[in-house]
Amino acid sequence: MRIVYSKSLKPGMELAKPVYGKDGEKLLHGGVILTSSYIKNLQKKNIPAVYIDDEISDGIEVEDAIDLEVKVQAVETIRKVFDNMSTKKNKSRNFCNRSNKDIKNTIYGIMNNLKENNGSLFNMVEIMSKDLATYNHCVNVAVLTIMTARTLGLNEKQIVDIGMGALMHDIGYSNVTSEIINKPGQLSDEEFEVIKRHTIYGYEMVKEDSDVSAIIKTIILMHHERLDGSGYPLRIKGDKLNKYVRIVSICDMFEALTSDRVYRERMPVYKALELLSSKTISELDLEIYKHFIKNIAIYPQGTGVLLNTGEKGLVVENNRNNPTRPKVRIIFNSEGSFHVGFKVIDLMEELTIFIEDNCELRY
Ligand SMILES: [Fe+2]
Repeated sequence: MRIVYSKSLKPGMELAKPVYGKDGEKLLHGGVILTSSYIKNLQKKNIPAVYIDDEISDGIEVEDAIDLEVKVQAVETIRKVFDNMSTKKNKSRNFCNRSNKDIKNTIYGIMNNLKENNGSLFNMVEIMSKDLATYNHCVNVAVLTIMTARTLGLNEKQIVDIGMGALMHDIGYSNVTSEIINKPGQLSDEEFEVIKRHTIYGYEMVKEDSDVSAIIKTIILMHHERLDGSGYPLRIKGDKLNKYVRIVSICDMFEALTSDRVYRERMPVYKALELLSSKTISELDLEIYKHFIKNIAIYPQGTGVLLNTGEKGLVVENNRNNPTRPKVRIIFNSEGSFHVGFKVIDLMEELTIFIEDNCELRY
């Protein structure tokens, strides 16, 4: 199977995995053959990409740290929590005990699933509707945070707390209008000030709640603070930012860079990691960053890549010790012709060959 972005879908393609809509409903089952009306519907529902089975991707398995069904369930939970917290429904905007339990159960579900898929890397390939961007973001940040916390050797209780904090870190957005959150153009200074206040809004929602741990409250308030004091809302720095906040900050920034937003396209994973790496000089924690990257698939299985030889292919298998050098199945030769036989190049053996960029394979 391979990943195909919605704008490149063609009638006759076969879905390899189901597609879910924004209320967690199954829009299409795995195995369905796409028609032009299915494709139009997927595009209308803002599904960014789907997994396809075809001859060029035959035999390629996509392993992900988290199963799609677990993710759908987590997105549904955090969507309900946001809904509960919005000022329209919850006048006092107090966090309720029920939400706390739901979030804790969701974190246990994610932790168990990560254990079941032990060793699989995190694929930053979003296949949930862009209409769910805020909730997808919270779930992806929670998964990345839990994976990083495990790699850092935190204990189970700490991981549950930090996972809950990560899932709830942007809860203050439930008090920001969708016109500002989803504004396609550049924000005015006043609008940006409102965006920044999501940290304070979120903190106010939970600060009196004894069911919510201090770690979670700190993450909600401080996840945009930076080590050099350049963050917000309090502009605190250095030692005042604990390990938990530093972990969530890295995962939050990575997720935001590598996912589509209404005002900009996603950045490829390798570029986002370069940017994050440059920020470890002043803003982000270098030691945590080193642990964070151990869990990321820079080129997930089933994604298209362009090699420096001009050949284009699909990533077949990742190499954990050297994530920029996976095995690649060549689909097009350097002249752009279909490569008969689809040879596989192991970039760990062919050291003069390297990946130049991500690319889409159209044929
Ligand atoms: Fe945030």
